[in-house]
Amino acid sequence: MNQLDFIRALPKAELHVHIEGTFEPELMFAIAQRNEVEIPYKSVEEVKQAYNFHNLQSFLDIYYAGANVLIHEQDFYDLAWAYFEKCAEDKVVHTEMFFDPQTHTDRGIAFSTVINGLQRACDDAKEKFGISSHLIMCFLRHLSEEAAFETLEQALPYKDQIIGVGLDSSEVGHPPSKFERVFAKAREAGFLVVAHAGEEGPAEYVWEALDLLKVNRIDHGVRSEEDETLMARLIAEKMPLTVCPLSNLKLCVVDDMAKHNIRRLLQKGVHVTVNSDDPSYFGGYMNDNFIAITEALDLTKDELKQLAINSFEASFISDDEKQKWSEQIQAMA
Ligand code: HPA
Ligand code: ZN
Repeated sequence: MNQLDFIRALPKAELHVHIEGTFEPELMFAIAQRNEVEIPYKSVEEVKQAYNFHNLQSFLDIYYAGANVLIHEQDFYDLAWAYFEKCAEDKVVHTEMFFDPQTHTDRGIAFSTVINGLQRACDDAKEKFGISSHLIMCFLRHLSEEAAFETLEQALPYKDQIIGVGLDSSEVGHPPSKFERVFAKAREAGFLVVAHAGEEGPAEYVWEALDLLKVNRIDHGVRSEEDETLMARLIAEKMPLTVCPLSNLKLCVVDDMAKHNIRRLLQKGVHVTVNSDDPSYFGGYMNDNFIAITEALDLTKDELKQLAINSFEASFISDDEKQKWSEQIQAMA
């Protein structure tokens, strides 16, 4: 089997995908029309032309604007369902998707509208595709600690449907330490915790995510390589990094995929995984990310298998499930 077919056949878990970042222009137009919401584009082509980001903030401005058309529970369902169809095509058999409640509640959309739509899609994906999923609620780090506390409060009635909390949006200037107390409260309430750190921000933010937020995984974390002591710690603790190669390329975290450090991190023993982040905006879903790094970095089948096994090992599924997928992947030739 060639590498491409091998990638397609590999079972995978996705651990870093923002559901609002899976919003394809075609669906955005359809929902805008049925909700009679104006969007500042005349055509799907115009939307795509607007996607010429050069850093995280220039992306986020457009990403938040796109989410404005989501109003009804069915809109959130349709958004997540379209993503699950991509998972089915890419053999993503388990996904832990981020959602940003504040992007919606700040526009007057009820928390229940968001979560009910997403949950119904998760239930249907399990039934129709056999895809399992968890929801992770992210706090927007450019907003205040107080706003994050309020969002955590709103999430408590839905505790059984939300496995963890995360931290996303503009990284630089909004270190993990800003949310130390919110994360302590979330952990006390029984949520697992993850945080974006070391994407545009320095290795110091990864230290903070580990020491102050006590995260179970680091999202991105590619800048950890700049700090040898941090690298030793990540390796010793088997701390997962949810790496997003096409995102890093699009947002100029790396200027050439051939220079991406994911293979080096893997070879050094860091528990790296492959993910799509915001696939509608960054040029590809899970398999596109695998293909891009395989072509640019000449990954072997054993390395591809390790990346896929890592994705299940780093996920929040049961140990039995982890073992089942690892054995299935190990047996692939
Ligand atoms: N980084 C930070 N915040 C985000 C991202 C990202 O890659 N995608 C959506 N929100
Ligand atoms: Zn992200």
